[in-house]
Amino acid sequence: MPKELKAHIHAARICENEQVARGLWCLVFEAPELARDLEAGQFFTIAVASEPRQVVRIPLSFSAVDMASGTVETIYAVIGPGTEALSRMERGETTSVTGPCGNGWKVSSQIKRCLLVAGGIGITPLLSAATFLSRENIAFDAIIGARTADMLWGEEALSALGCETVLLATDDGTTNFQGTAADGFCELLKTETYDCILTCGPPAMLQAVAEIAAGANIACQASLERNMTCGFGACSTCAVQTKTGNKSACMDGPVFNAKEVVW
Ligand code: FES
Repeated sequence: MPKELKAHIHAARICENEQVARGLWCLVFEAPELARDLEAGQFFTIAVASEPRQVVRIPLSFSAVDMASGTVETIYAVIGPGTEALSRMERGETTSVTGPCGNGWKVSSQIKRCLLVAGGIGITPLLSAATFLSRENIAFDAIIGARTADMLWGEEALSALGCETVLLATDDGTTNFQGTAADGFCELLKTETYDCILTCGPPAMLQAVAEIAAGANIACQASLERNMTCGFGACSTCAVQTKTGNKSACMDGPVFNAKEVVW
């Protein structure tokens, strides 16, 4: 049976679009219905008409929504012509977005304590998770990993949402922890206990986090990044190998039970 498509096309007006860290931008746009419908961990796609090479929409996770103003916020990395063109869009410009797409985090309100583990731009869907945890009064800590301190973003936003400990893991040790996000996870496990791990970042980091979580017998969900062409289950460019066969990141994910993924 075909999967239900929850996404719709929405008009969007840019409210803010500014650089917040090396290589990272914060985009806020107005799209009230999308802001109302997005659930933590889901994503949307955005059209960037000014870049002729960007023939498909760009898939982006969201970091926050504001129902009162009808706006959606995303932190995105500028990594090619499409996202470069997106970073040049200015306040007041209009475009279209499609969403809500995919399936997000599934956290029971019975969970007592959660750990968010982000690598670089993986912070974006974890900020939407942090909002959910905060609303549900679930305690949480976070690790954000990046090569250097100037590539990190999200500490203030997490603290504002009630995150108790934020470990900033950098390769060069210019923050409060030297090492990878996975190293930071091992460090926190020496003194803390968690019953749920939510993670997003580069594949090697996700695999390491999934293995550490499995070793410690902690449930772990991972938001997987894949190349996406259509964003609604039609092209198979976003295949994810799982223990029960191939699935699509755009329709079955992007959030998967880490134990189900073939890493
Ligand atoms: S992006 Fe086309 S099937 Fe997932």
